[in-house]
Amino acid sequence: MSSFNAVRVRADIPALTRHINGRPITYLDSGASSLPPRSVIEAMDEYYRLRHANVHRGVYQTANEATDAYEGARAAVAQFLNAPGGAEGVVFTKNCTEAFNLLAKSWGVANLKDGDVVLLSEMEHHANIVPWFQLRESIALDIRFIPVTDDYELDLSNIQELLQGVKLLSLTAMSNVLGTINPVKDLAALAHAHGALVAIDASQSVGHMPTNLVDLDIDFMMFSGHKMLGPTGIGVFWTRPEILATMPPFLGGGGMIADVRTDGYTPATGFTRFEAGTPMIAEAVGLHAAIRYLEGLGLDNVHAHDQSLTVDAISRINHQFSGRVRIIGPTAHAQRGGVLSLDVEGVHPHDIAQVLDEIGVCVRPGHHCAKPLMRRFGLAATARASFGPYSLTLDTDVLLEGLQRAITFFG
Ligand code: ALA
Repeated sequence: MSSFNAVRVRADIPALTRHINGRPITYLDSGASSLPPRSVIEAMDEYYRLRHANVHRGVYQTANEATDAYEGARAAVAQFLNAPGGAEGVVFTKNCTEAFNLLAKSWGVANLKDGDVVLLSEMEHHANIVPWFQLRESIALDIRFIPVTDDYELDLSNIQELLQGVKLLSLTAMSNVLGTINPVKDLAALAHAHGALVAIDASQSVGHMPTNLVDLDIDFMMFSGHKMLGPTGIGVFWTRPEILATMPPFLGGGGMIADVRTDGYTPATGFTRFEAGTPMIAEAVGLHAAIRYLEGLGLDNVHAHDQSLTVDAISRINHQFSGRVRIIGPTAHAQRGGVLSLDVEGVHPHDIAQVLDEIGVCVRPGHHCAKPLMRRFGLAATARASFGPYSLTLDTDVLLEGLQRAITFFG
């Protein structure tokens, strides 16, 4: 059991030493991007200063070190996820969105045909919607959506019917708007029983709670490094190596081939086939450092911390702003992530965010790349506050101060 202490985590985050508009920064936008600890920044800095070379090409010492660092990151991801098949199923992508495009445009093109059904949910991020609509431009897919209840949970009352004929269930583990944590393991078992494969968007969950792919028994997982204390520019696509072996290349070029002739080419096998061009080496080093850091904190501890901050914030918002501020997400139980989407009666989310910025509070206003979900609740936007392992109740204090200020100002 590690001794989790958010105050100590905070001391590891250089960006939290900033002052904004004369106030210490109150960073409540970890759902959009988390803040890296010093160890992540230093690992990338050390890599660039001393060990930078291209990977999988040179035979000299630093080239070997760079390759070892890059492949070490892949092994660390596999271990972090307890991935069946180990590192062989881990493909590095630019971000989670690119990972979803890899799923749709490689696996989807090879495995889906006219009339096939892909089941999503109304609470998906556009990254798990738009690639399927794009694929529907060439394959006549039936794209279905699991509805969301008035209590902001998946409406599973018709799930047996919705799963009829489904080839792929593609679902978020945790909504980036609602904070709802979905019952991934149970739904995966149900989808498998209907003959479907299961893809999970772990962007919001993987840096906030334990992930165990053996236990979840799913087929694909996608996420970004920068929402789990790592750098931008790197994401992960995971699948079982036996599924990866059936997927055609997505991007073509150097690094992804076994042979190239004047009459054609032969793709490499395994993850290499999907990593065309010089990959994101420093970012992989940073991701590896982020994984080490999170493991040091303990993902159970991070999750418990998120939940305690969230329960406290919900209760205080409801108490102080009853009737004026609506929380768009589950409020009745602690089993949710640290994401609070706020709808303040009579005040536009962008105005809320502007007033909060005046006292150094960073939140995200907007549709959060989840327009179908916004439509479901008749909203154009919310102001979203989201916690990280470095967040404290002090941050909630300043958030509430800012909300009061906005309500007073806008009347
Ligand atoms: N997908 C990120 C968010 O939810 C950017 O804010």
